[in-house]
Amino acid sequence: MALQKFQHFMLKEIYEQPEVIRHSLSDPTEAFQVLPTLDQVEEIQILACGTSFHAGLIGQFLLEQVAGIPTRVRSASEFLAAPFPRFRNTLVVVVSQSGETADVLAAMQVVKQSSPGGAFNILAITNNSQSSIATEADYEISVAAGIETSVAATKTFTAQLALFYGLAFFYARQGQRLSNEQLKGWNAQLDALPAQVEKVLQQEATITAIAASLKDTKTLMLLGTGINYPIALEGALKLKETTYTHAEGYAAGEFLHGPIALLDQTIPTIAICPSQRSRSASAERMLKVAQKISSNGSDVILLGGSDAAIVLPPCEELLSPFLNIVPLQLLAYHLAISRNIDVDHPRNITKSLKSS
Ligand code: AGP
Repeated sequence: MALQKFQHFMLKEIYEQPEVIRHSLSDPTEAFQVLPTLDQVEEIQILACGTSFHAGLIGQFLLEQVAGIPTRVRSASEFLAAPFPRFRNTLVVVVSQSGETADVLAAMQVVKQSSPGGAFNILAITNNSQSSIATEADYEISVAAGIETSVAATKTFTAQLALFYGLAFFYARQGQRLSNEQLKGWNAQLDALPAQVEKVLQQEATITAIAASLKDTKTLMLLGTGINYPIALEGALKLKETTYTHAEGYAAGEFLHGPIALLDQTIPTIAICPSQRSRSASAERMLKVAQKISSNGSDVILLGGSDAAIVLPPCEELLSPFLNIVPLQLLAYHLAISRNIDVDHPRNITKSLKSS
């Protein structure tokens, strides 16, 4: 893999996202025609680790709120200690960029052993169709993001998201929760996403300046709500692994129940606001929390919304994770560079955790 004009693979892979999303969303529901039909899916369980786990949390939001299917998500490593109770007609979705993560493979074995009669179907979402996880599953759907070299997952995350939107729309259509017309409407909005992500990438200079202002910051809070709560978690993970900053993601409302006491003038908060044309209830909720934090004297960096430090193109809130994650990836990248960290190879971690 060549770096072309980029200095690091992480940056190159961040910039590949419009193309990856375009490719993944070209026919969003088509790949799922092979799956059990909705009458055979009473519940979905999602198992994954790290960034793939965060994609799974957004998947849960979509499958519950759009498709109306009860969905549970658990980190694959925790599933080993606490497997979900056995349930009939369950579709288990395992998500792994590498397709080789040991905890995910072990969780798949637990699922298989608990269901000798085959009450479970396992769908693997990976970026490697030849991988152990892809091979062990009943169904495999590739995110086809191309090789990701940087240890920090970026383009595979947005590609995993694209597949979860496809999966949720697929079952929502089957369950008559979306008409053909509505599905067409969503497809048109999905088609617009790559160009919107390109617009976000054009804000790199603004984000670089924000990164410079955070050069000596030791702790950062990230808040999101609704479908953007997992984006706060994922942004914090990117910041932790590439910049060694203590960064924590919280649900905005939950932050008020204790963690807000941590804040002082040295701890900035990034508030992730969905950036749609009219303010949603979640945007209002987020802004209220942001105001409370700044009135207490702590800095808030607003991401999204018209008064934001990083202004994002307006889009439906449901699709906003695609736009909100990109500035956080760029922020992590530039903060790492400003600290002279080898961003493609952070300390203590490897691309694929083949043993735990
Ligand atoms: C992502 O940036 C991390 N390097 C890490 O959390 C990763 O997502 C996790 O180890 C899971 O990897 P997988 O998707 O290959 O299973």
